[in-house]
Amino acid sequence: MRVYVVDSYGELSAKAALIVAGQVAFKADSVLGLCTGSTPVGMYKELSAMHQKQGLDFSRVITFNLDEYYGLAPDNIQSYHYFMKKNLFDHVNIKQENIHIPDGLAADIDAECDRYEEAIQKAGGIDLQVLGIGRNGHIGFNEPAAKFSAATFLTELDEDTIKANARFFASPGEVPTCAITMGIKTIMQAKKILLLANGPEKAEAVRNAVKGDIDPYVPASILQLHSDCTFIIDREAAKYL
Ligand code: GLP
Repeated sequence: MRVYVVDSYGELSAKAALIVAGQVAFKADSVLGLCTGSTPVGMYKELSAMHQKQGLDFSRVITFNLDEYYGLAPDNIQSYHYFMKKNLFDHVNIKQENIHIPDGLAADIDAECDRYEEAIQKAGGIDLQVLGIGRNGHIGFNEPAAKFSAATFLTELDEDTIKANARFFASPGEVPTCAITMGIKTIMQAKKILLLANGPEKAEAVRNAVKGDIDPYVPASILQLHSDCTFIIDREAAKYL
Protein backbone atom coordinates (compact mmCIF):
# COMPACT_ATOMS: atom_id res chain seq x y z
CA MET A 1 0.00 0.00 0.00
CA ARG A 2 1.38 3.41 -0.98
CA VAL A 3 0.18 6.47 0.92
CA TYR A 4 0.66 9.94 -0.55
CA VAL A 5 -0.11 12.86 1.71
CA VAL A 6 -0.97 16.08 -0.13
CA ASP A 7 -1.48 19.67 1.03
CA SER A 8 -4.95 20.38 -0.27
CA TYR A 9 -8.14 18.98 -1.73
CA GLY A 10 -7.17 20.63 -5.04
CA GLU A 11 -3.90 18.72 -5.13
CA LEU A 12 -5.64 15.47 -4.18
CA SER A 13 -8.15 15.94 -7.02
CA ALA A 14 -5.48 16.83 -9.58
CA LYS A 15 -3.25 13.86 -8.66
CA ALA A 16 -6.18 11.44 -8.66
CA ALA A 17 -7.30 12.71 -12.07
CA LEU A 18 -3.76 12.25 -13.43
CA ILE A 19 -3.74 8.62 -12.29
CA VAL A 20 -7.13 7.93 -13.90
CA ALA A 21 -6.16 9.83 -17.06
CA GLY A 22 -2.87 7.91 -17.22
CA GLN A 23 -4.79 4.65 -17.01
CA VAL A 24 -7.11 5.74 -19.84
CA ALA A 25 -4.24 7.05 -21.97
CA PHE A 26 -2.29 3.83 -21.44
CA LYS A 27 -5.27 1.57 -22.20
CA ALA A 28 -8.05 3.27 -24.16
CA ASP A 29 -10.56 0.53 -23.34
CA SER A 30 -9.84 0.61 -19.61
CA VAL A 31 -12.46 -0.69 -17.22
CA LEU A 32 -12.81 1.89 -14.46
CA GLY A 33 -14.49 1.28 -11.11
CA LEU A 34 -15.97 4.57 -9.94
CA CYS A 35 -17.20 5.95 -6.64
CA THR A 36 -19.54 8.69 -5.52
CA GLY A 37 -19.68 11.05 -2.52
CA SER A 38 -18.14 14.49 -2.01
CA THR A 39 -14.55 13.26 -2.17
CA PRO A 40 -14.25 12.45 -5.91
CA VAL A 41 -16.15 15.53 -7.13
CA GLY A 42 -12.91 17.51 -7.69
CA MET A 43 -11.31 14.58 -9.54
CA TYR A 44 -14.33 14.32 -11.84
CA LYS A 45 -14.10 18.07 -12.55
CA GLU A 46 -10.44 17.67 -13.49
CA LEU A 47 -11.20 14.68 -15.72
CA SER A 48 -14.02 16.58 -17.43
CA ALA A 49 -11.62 19.47 -18.09
CA MET A 50 -8.96 17.06 -19.40
CA HIS A 51 -11.51 15.73 -21.87
CA GLN A 52 -12.68 19.17 -22.95
CA LYS A 53 -9.30 20.92 -23.14
CA GLN A 54 -6.85 18.13 -23.91
CA GLY A 55 -9.07 15.59 -25.64
CA LEU A 56 -8.77 12.84 -23.03
CA ASP A 57 -10.79 10.16 -24.80
CA PHE A 58 -13.44 8.16 -22.93
CA SER A 59 -15.04 6.69 -26.07
CA ARG A 60 -13.80 3.17 -25.34
CA VAL A 61 -13.79 3.39 -21.55
CA ILE A 62 -16.10 1.07 -19.63
CA THR A 63 -17.24 2.02 -16.12
CA PHE A 64 -18.73 0.19 -13.18
CA ASN A 65 -19.93 2.16 -10.20
CA LEU A 66 -19.50 0.76 -6.74
CA ASP A 67 -23.03 1.14 -5.51
CA GLU A 68 -26.54 2.55 -5.73
CA TYR A 69 -29.24 3.25 -3.17
CA TYR A 70 -31.98 0.64 -3.08
CA GLY A 71 -35.33 2.07 -4.16
CA LEU A 72 -34.08 5.19 -5.96
CA ALA A 73 -34.85 5.63 -9.67
CA PRO A 74 -31.97 6.73 -11.95
CA ASP A 75 -33.54 10.17 -12.43
CA ASN A 76 -33.91 10.77 -8.68
CA ILE A 77 -31.50 13.60 -7.92
CA GLN A 78 -30.18 11.73 -4.86
CA SER A 79 -29.37 8.60 -6.86
CA TYR A 80 -25.82 7.72 -7.76
CA HIS A 81 -26.96 7.39 -11.40
CA TYR A 82 -27.83 11.09 -11.28
CA PHE A 83 -24.63 12.00 -9.41
CA MET A 84 -22.45 10.33 -12.05
CA LYS A 85 -24.32 11.95 -14.93
CA LYS A 86 -24.00 15.42 -13.42
CA ASN A 87 -20.41 15.09 -12.21
CA LEU A 88 -18.77 13.15 -15.05
CA PHE A 89 -20.79 11.40 -17.73
CA ASP A 90 -22.48 14.55 -19.08
CA HIS A 91 -19.06 16.15 -19.58
CA VAL A 92 -17.06 13.42 -21.35
CA ASN A 93 -17.52 11.28 -24.46
CA ILE A 94 -18.31 8.02 -22.70
CA LYS A 95 -20.83 5.79 -24.47
CA GLN A 96 -24.08 5.18 -22.60
CA GLU A 97 -23.81 1.43 -23.20
CA ASN A 98 -20.40 1.38 -21.49
CA ILE A 99 -21.78 2.80 -18.22
CA HIS A 100 -22.78 0.34 -15.50
CA ILE A 101 -24.42 1.21 -12.19
CA PRO A 102 -26.47 -1.23 -10.08
CA ASP A 103 -30.22 -0.86 -10.65
CA GLY A 104 -31.72 0.32 -7.38
CA LEU A 105 -35.19 -0.48 -8.66
CA ALA A 106 -34.50 -4.06 -9.76
CA ALA A 107 -37.46 -6.31 -8.94
CA ASP A 108 -35.19 -9.33 -8.47
CA ILE A 109 -32.24 -8.10 -6.42
CA ASP A 110 -30.35 -11.39 -6.43
CA ALA A 111 -30.57 -11.56 -10.22
CA GLU A 112 -29.42 -7.93 -10.45
CA CYS A 113 -26.39 -8.63 -8.23
CA ASP A 114 -25.47 -11.71 -10.31
CA ARG A 115 -25.93 -9.72 -13.52
CA TYR A 116 -23.61 -7.00 -12.23
CA GLU A 117 -20.87 -9.46 -11.28
CA GLU A 118 -21.15 -11.19 -14.65
CA ALA A 119 -20.93 -7.88 -16.51
CA ILE A 120 -17.70 -7.03 -14.65
CA GLN A 121 -16.23 -10.43 -15.55
CA LYS A 122 -17.37 -10.11 -19.16
CA ALA A 123 -15.64 -6.72 -19.42
CA GLY A 124 -12.41 -8.42 -18.33
CA GLY A 125 -12.41 -7.22 -14.72
CA ILE A 126 -11.76 -3.76 -13.34
CA ASP A 127 -8.41 -2.19 -14.27
CA LEU A 128 -8.55 0.69 -11.80
CA GLN A 129 -11.01 1.05 -8.95
CA VAL A 130 -11.39 4.49 -7.35
CA LEU A 131 -12.67 4.51 -3.77
CA GLY A 132 -13.65 6.98 -1.11
CA ILE A 133 -13.91 5.93 2.52
CA GLY A 134 -16.73 6.30 5.02
CA ARG A 135 -16.14 7.75 8.49
CA ASN A 136 -16.67 4.22 9.79
CA GLY A 137 -14.13 2.75 7.36
CA HIS A 138 -16.66 1.54 4.79
CA ILE A 139 -15.77 1.21 1.11
CA GLY A 140 -18.60 1.26 -1.41
CA PHE A 141 -21.41 0.47 0.98
CA ASN A 142 -19.56 -2.38 2.67
CA GLU A 143 -20.31 -1.50 6.27
CA PRO A 144 -18.41 -2.74 9.34
CA ALA A 145 -19.52 -6.35 9.90
CA ALA A 146 -18.47 -9.64 11.44
CA LYS A 147 -17.02 -10.83 8.15
CA PHE A 148 -15.89 -9.40 4.83
CA SER A 149 -18.47 -9.59 2.05
CA ALA A 150 -17.79 -11.27 -1.27
CA ALA A 151 -19.77 -10.43 -4.41
CA THR A 152 -22.25 -7.62 -5.16
CA PHE A 153 -25.13 -7.71 -2.66
CA LEU A 154 -27.97 -5.80 -1.03
CA THR A 155 -26.81 -4.30 2.25
CA GLU A 156 -28.35 -2.35 5.09
CA LEU A 157 -26.75 1.01 5.79
CA ASP A 158 -25.28 1.82 9.19
CA GLU A 159 -26.84 4.52 11.35
CA ASP A 160 -23.58 6.47 11.02
CA THR A 161 -23.66 6.25 7.21
CA ILE A 162 -27.29 7.38 7.12
CA LYS A 163 -26.35 10.34 9.33
CA ALA A 164 -23.29 11.19 7.23
CA ASN A 165 -25.23 11.01 3.94
CA ALA A 166 -28.27 12.88 5.31
CA ARG A 167 -26.59 16.12 4.20
CA PHE A 168 -27.52 15.29 0.61
CA PHE A 169 -31.21 14.73 1.46
CA ALA A 170 -33.97 17.00 2.78
CA SER A 171 -34.03 15.01 6.05
CA PRO A 172 -32.35 11.90 7.53
CA GLY A 173 -35.69 10.08 7.18
CA GLU A 174 -35.35 10.33 3.39
CA VAL A 175 -31.99 8.52 3.21
CA PRO A 176 -32.60 4.99 1.88
CA THR A 177 -31.78 2.34 4.46
CA CYS A 178 -30.42 -0.19 1.94
CA ALA A 179 -28.12 -0.17 -1.07
CA ILE A 180 -26.71 -2.50 -3.69
CA THR A 181 -22.93 -2.52 -3.46
CA MET A 182 -20.00 -4.35 -4.98
CA GLY A 183 -18.69 -6.73 -2.35
CA ILE A 184 -15.22 -6.65 -0.84
CA LYS A 185 -14.10 -9.54 -3.03
CA THR A 186 -15.29 -7.68 -6.14
CA ILE A 187 -13.33 -4.60 -5.08
CA MET A 188 -10.22 -6.62 -4.21
CA GLN A 189 -10.24 -8.23 -7.66
CA ALA A 190 -9.56 -4.85 -9.29
CA LYS A 191 -6.06 -4.79 -10.75
CA LYS A 192 -5.31 -1.39 -9.19
CA ILE A 193 -7.02 0.54 -6.41
CA LEU A 194 -6.90 4.26 -5.69
CA LEU A 195 -8.46 5.48 -2.42
CA LEU A 196 -9.06 9.17 -1.79
CA ALA A 197 -9.76 10.78 1.58
CA ASN A 198 -9.78 14.34 2.83
CA GLY A 199 -10.77 16.17 5.96
CA PRO A 200 -10.38 15.49 9.69
CA GLU A 201 -13.53 13.37 9.92
CA LYS A 202 -11.77 10.68 7.83
CA ALA A 203 -8.57 10.64 9.92
CA GLU A 204 -9.56 7.82 12.25
CA ALA A 205 -10.88 5.62 9.43
CA VAL A 206 -7.67 6.25 7.45
CA ARG A 207 -5.46 5.37 10.42
CA ASN A 208 -7.41 2.16 11.09
CA ALA A 209 -7.34 1.23 7.41
CA VAL A 210 -3.60 1.85 6.97
CA LYS A 211 -2.16 0.90 10.35
CA GLY A 212 -4.79 -1.17 12.13
CA ASP A 213 -5.44 -4.89 12.09
CA ILE A 214 -7.13 -6.32 9.03
CA ASP A 215 -10.59 -6.38 10.49
CA PRO A 216 -14.04 -6.65 8.86
CA TYR A 217 -15.21 -4.00 11.31
CA VAL A 218 -12.89 -1.66 9.35
CA PRO A 219 -13.74 -2.80 5.79
CA ALA A 220 -11.03 -0.62 4.18
CA SER A 221 -8.33 -2.42 6.21
CA ILE A 222 -8.53 -5.33 3.73
CA LEU A 223 -6.82 -3.04 1.22
CA GLN A 224 -3.54 -3.72 3.07
CA LEU A 225 -3.63 -7.10 1.30
CA HIS A 226 -4.02 -5.65 -2.19
CA SER A 227 -0.85 -5.76 -4.28
CA ASP A 228 -1.37 -2.40 -6.05
CA CYS A 229 -3.22 0.01 -3.81
CA THR A 230 -2.56 3.75 -3.50
CA PHE A 231 -4.06 6.13 -0.95
CA ILE A 232 -4.05 9.87 -1.70
CA ILE A 233 -5.04 11.78 1.42
CA ASP A 234 -4.79 15.35 2.60
CA ARG A 235 -2.94 16.41 5.76
CA GLU A 236 -6.08 16.48 7.85
CA ALA A 237 -7.05 12.94 6.93
CA ALA A 238 -3.42 11.90 7.58
CA LYS A 239 -3.20 13.45 11.05
CA TYR A 240 -3.19 10.11 12.95
CA LEU A 241 -0.67 8.38 10.67
C1 GLP B 1 -20.83 6.94 0.57
C2 GLP B 1 -20.43 6.03 -0.61
C3 GLP B 1 -18.96 5.70 -0.56
C4 GLP B 1 -18.18 6.95 -0.25
C5 GLP B 1 -18.46 7.39 1.16
C6 GLP B 1 -17.78 8.68 1.56
O1 GLP B 1 -21.69 6.38 1.49
N1 GLP B 1 -21.18 4.83 -0.72
O2 GLP B 1 -18.57 5.12 -1.79
O3 GLP B 1 -16.80 6.71 -0.36
O4 GLP B 1 -19.83 7.45 1.41
O5 GLP B 1 -18.44 9.78 1.04
P1 GLP B 1 -17.86 11.24 1.03
O6 GLP B 1 -16.81 11.29 -0.01
O7 GLP B 1 -19.04 12.12 0.73
O8 GLP B 1 -17.31 11.49 2.40
